[in-house]
Order: sequence, then C-alpha cells, then structure tokens
Amino acid sequence: MLSLILPTYNEADNILEMIPILRDTLSEIEYEIIIVDDNSPDGTWKVAQELSKDMDNVHVLRRVDRRGLSSAVIDGFLVAKGDVLSVMDADGQHDHTILPEIYSSVLDNKGVAIGSRYIEGGSVGEWDERRFLMSRIATKLAKKLCAVSVKDPMSGFFAVHRSVFEKALPKLNPKGFKILLDILVHVPKQTEAKEIPFTFSVRHHGESKLSWKVQIEFLEYLYDVTIGKIIPLVFVKYCLVGSLGVIVHVAAFTAISMAFKNGSDLTFSGFSFSVIGATETAILFNFWLNNIWTFSNSRLRGISIFTGLLKFNGACLFGALANYAVSAFLFSNGFPELASVIVGAFTGVIWNYTMNRMFTWKQ
Ligand code: GDD
Ligand code: MN
Repeated sequence: MLSLILPTYNEADNILEMIPILRDTLSEIEYEIIIVDDNSPDGTWKVAQELSKDMDNVHVLRRVDRRGLSSAVIDGFLVAKGDVLSVMDADGQHDHTILPEIYSSVLDNKGVAIGSRYIEGGSVGEWDERRFLMSRIATKLAKKLCAVSVKDPMSGFFAVHRSVFEKALPKLNPKGFKILLDILVHVPKQTEAKEIPFTFSVRHHGESKLSWKVQIEFLEYLYDVTIGKIIPLVFVKYCLVGSLGVIVHVAAFTAISMAFKNGSDLTFSGFSFSVIGATETAILFNFWLNNIWTFSNSRLRGISIFTGLLKFNGACLFGALANYAVSAFLFSNGFPELASVIVGAFTGVIWNYTMNRMFTWKQ
C-alpha cells in the first residue's frame, strides 16, 4: 500500500485541485493520502477535512502546536499504514504522473525512489538565477553527506520503504525542509536509491514557504551532522555570544566610567563600580542573546525569564570563580602567566556553559 503525505501550509486552493487529480493518477493502486496541515490561517485543514468526508482513504492531521515541513512529513509517516511512504508538494509543482513509478520502484528495491530534477530528463523548470544557484550549492554540499549516492538529495518528492524509514527515524532532525537528505544521511550504505526524472513546474496558487530561516536551518544542519558531532553548534553559538559580550562589556565600561571621571582620573571606587556595572550589562546582553538564539529551542518566556536570569548570573559567577581558581592554581605552580590565564578562562567558559545548559535552559 502507498501512503502519500501532502504537507500543507496555506494551500487551501491547491489542495482542492490536487485531490481529484491524485485520485485519477492512483486509481490502479491501493493508497491513502494524509494531509498534514499546521493549522493554516487560510483554513487548509478545514477544506481538507471536508474533502476527506467523502473519501475513506483521505485523512487529515491538523497540528496546532508545531510548524515545519520536515516534522510534518515525519508525523505523517508515523501515522501512515502503507509499506511505501511517500511525500510530494501540495501545490502542483511535482509531476504526479510519475507517482506510480516511484511507488513500484520502492516495492521493487525496498529502498528509496526520488523524483529527480538533476538527472537526464529532469529539470528545475522556471527558476530565477538566485534560486538556481542556491539549489546547486546546497545540492553539492548535501551530496557529500549521503550514505548512498544520488543526484537530487534535496528533492521534496520521494518515497521510502517503511523498513528503511524506521532505521533512520531515531536519528532524524525535524527542523527545516531537508527531510530526504536527512533520511539519506542516516540509511544503511547498501540501501538502493532510484531516481526518476521530472520537471519542477510552477506553483498553481500561493507562494513558496522556503524562507531565509529555512536556508539558515539547512546550514546549521550541515554543521550538526559534520563538525557538530565533535563541537556542538550550541557551544559555538554560546562562544560567539560571549565574544560579543566582551565588546558590550568594554563599551559599557567606557560609558559608565565617564560619569566617574574627574578630568582624566578615575578613582578606585569609580573603577570598581564601572567594572561591576559593565559586567552586569554584558551578563544581561549575553542572557538575552543566548535566550533568543543559542538556546532558542528551549527559549524562556514570561516570568521564567526572571528565574532564568538569576540562574544565569549564578552560573556566570561560578564560572568566574572556577576561572580564578584554575588560573591561580596553575600560576602558583609555576605555569607561565598567560598560559594560566587562558586555561583559566576556558575552564570558566566551559563551566558556565555546562551549568547554563543543565539548569538555565534545560531541554
Ligand atoms: N505542514 C507544513 N508545515 N507544511 C509545510 C510547511 C510547514 O511549516 N512549510 C511548507 N509546507 C508545505 C507546503 O505547503 C508545500 O505543500 C510543501 O510543504 C513544499 O513547500 P513549498 O513552499 O512549496 O516549497 P518549495 O516549492 O519552495 O520547495 C520545494 O523544493 C525544495 C528544493 O528545491 C520543496 O519540494 C522542498 O521540499 C524542496 O526541498
Ligand atoms: Mn512547492
């Protein structure tokens, strides 16, 4: 049986056209269609629910708490009944006439079949220069990561055998658009993949949801499955935020100390006050940026921002103490000055990163 997932976000007009077309195309096959809609403002889920009332093999999964193409496809596959799990754009861009061939290929090879734009006979159709270039670069990078060699790992039109999907499932990353790539990265090497050419056509209605955010998620994904296995991306982000924090610290110190200056002299108490003020300013800045960016997955909102900020202050204080303890220990045991300071600073960063990860933004 074929389970066809149609992920949708604001595709009400398209879905009305697609279902009758697919019914004709799949008339010789045992199939079900699962529309996974993320509570579209245009009411796609409602249109889909109406359609499904007259068709026993059309189902609707309306998700109210989540967004995203990859996770919609994964959720669709998880409720599917078929042994062949497939997905296509709901906007008419994918050539439905090759669906039966995609299906029979997977029945045959028990692996993967891909509607491909980059093999002989396929094409991307009418794309502007920019999108074409982006897609070529993304495809080139993506190909290097796949366990099996294919020409179009970024296609949104494919089918996979249930057994293969289940093997990859525990490792899948539900962010962004790159569901096929993610599956191809995590399948066993001997998995067979067949590509079937098609021409990517223009959207029937509405507009693409492939935003700049989705493109950044793709770059983060590439990092995650390569260097990220050794140095996690959140740690890199945390260090970047920390470096910006140093700039904020210096700027805040300059501004605050101006108020205490008598000519060009700064008293010791004025200096101390400025350092404390600058430190807290940098802490506030780091907390804010870490909250919305580094740890955006477990972002704190409302009242928990205040408790989070307290924990963050605590973690930073402990980090500073660890920093001091380690560098003082090394220095008093004969280590060179600069080496002691650097090792101490690193210890402090790793210490407060670990504490913040465990306590402030625990997953
Ligand atoms: N449920 C759900 N949630 N569906 C979504 C979401 C979402 O957040 N975002 C997009 N979709 C649905 C769209 O409604 C559409 O049916 C399908 O996923 C593909 O989205 P498009 O917005 O049409 O993407 P595209 O045509 O620009 O991109 C195509 O080409 C890419 C590679 O060049 C797609 O086929 C991509 O999957 C593919 O990676
Ligand atoms: Mn599309």
